Amino acid sequence: MICSNIGINKAGHLTFAGQDTVELAQKYSTPLYLIDEDKIREKMRIYVKAVAENFPSGSMPLYASKALCFKKIYGIAKEENMGVDVVSPGELYTAAQAGFPMEKVFFHGNNKTDEDIEFAIENRIGCFICDNLDELDAIDETAKRHGIVQKILLRLTPGIDPHTHVKISTGKVDSKFGIAIETGQADEAVKAALEKKNVALLGYHCHIGSQTFDIKPFVDGAEIMLKYIAHIKESLGYEADILNLGGGMGVRYVEDDPEIDYAANIKGIADMMKSKCRELGIKLPVVLMEPGRSIVADAGMTLYTVGGTKEIPGYKNYVSVDGGMTDNPRYTLYESPYTIALANKANEPAEKRYTVGGRCCESGDLIQENVSLPKAEKGDILAVMTTGAYNYSMASHYNRIPNPPVVMLKGGESYVAVKRETYADLMKNDL
Ligand code: LLP
Repeated sequence: MICSNIGINKAGHLTFAGQDTVELAQKYSTPLYLIDEDKIREKMRIYVKAVAENFPSGSMPLYASKALCFKKIYGIAKEENMGVDVVSPGELYTAAQAGFPMEKVFFHGNNKTDEDIEFAIENRIGCFICDNLDELDAIDETAKRHGIVQKILLRLTPGIDPHTHVKISTGKVDSKFGIAIETGQADEAVKAALEKKNVALLGYHCHIGSQTFDIKPFVDGAEIMLKYIAHIKESLGYEADILNLGGGMGVRYVEDDPEIDYAANIKGIADMMKSKCRELGIKLPVVLMEPGRSIVADAGMTLYTVGGTKEIPGYKNYVSVDGGMTDNPRYTLYESPYTIALANKANEPAEKRYTVGGRCCESGDLIQENVSLPKAEKGDILAVMTTGAYNYSMASHYNRIPNPPVVMLKGGESYVAVKRETYADLMKNDL
């Protein structure tokens, strides 16, 4: 199986976190997001332990909550001693409502409005990841009004191509995120930040992209950032205390994807950084990381009910499900691969190739193409694996389709963390 939390039981049903998915579909109805809480905690612990073992005190992984955001997840991150990365006031608000410690919140975004900055400072968040000079001015002014000195990291673009999908690649010089090192604009930003009275520059941030399997882009990115720390130490006499390496480690969606040893990757990055720091004559900085996908992706599975099939001789076989691009837009957006099974026929051999279509009025509303499945029939439960990241958090209401609930699985039990939306929920702001 694609992940250790997936199996098949005696009834021939697909299991997730040890529970019968057909029974879960009956209990909670479909479409349904399942989230394996134990798997999330296991992943968080891997990161917390590896970061603590390899980097100086104060180093910490921040859960990138854009991957999967609802109130409960911040409680889990808090209990597991993670910080969090939020990228909007909505995520920040959710973290605050969940009682997440604000000093461990890092606020991202390439276009934080003045209201966002005010809101974050009112909430006394720990640190801004400052994206540009306009934002730097706004943080300084707002912090001054509040009589505080606000901690910031500057987001820099190291000029790395992680060879991932172009829409999720962020570390190149030509990016809407951050300030480029290559052009010299980063040096100007550091000077400006050091001159601000109500801003404390703690160091730098970089993020090269998402769903990256290879460790090399991370190592290369970290090396560029260390060289930059050394360059600014020499040119301006300022040595950064913190280096935030962003997120981006890949996840196994299909059998052909490699398994990733996250702890080994972190150690590999740390070993390189230690020797590079010695060579450059700088101290090893406190290191932050921002894993999102690799914390939650394989903790998720989506269940749908098959509404029917359509065979077009000489063309394709379609299987239609009661969800689609509204709960998982990733195939429509990026042609992302997924592993799919019929949960009630998990032991039956594959018979046909199907295109899995959603229920939206849109031809591109597909979950996957060329999927080998047993013969699909109305009423079957179709399971899409590894949907924990960027599914619920990217859900939409296109065609006024309500979002499915999020049901958490923990130690053999299940509970609702986010209720199923009703038609009335969809209309609640209509006047
Ligand atoms: N830090 C920063 C600054 C980021 O921009 C991101 C992701 C992360 C951390 C977390 O990266 P992760 O560990 O999850 O790869 N919607 C796309 C992914 C967009 C990622 C955006 N930034 C998808 O569905 O693949």
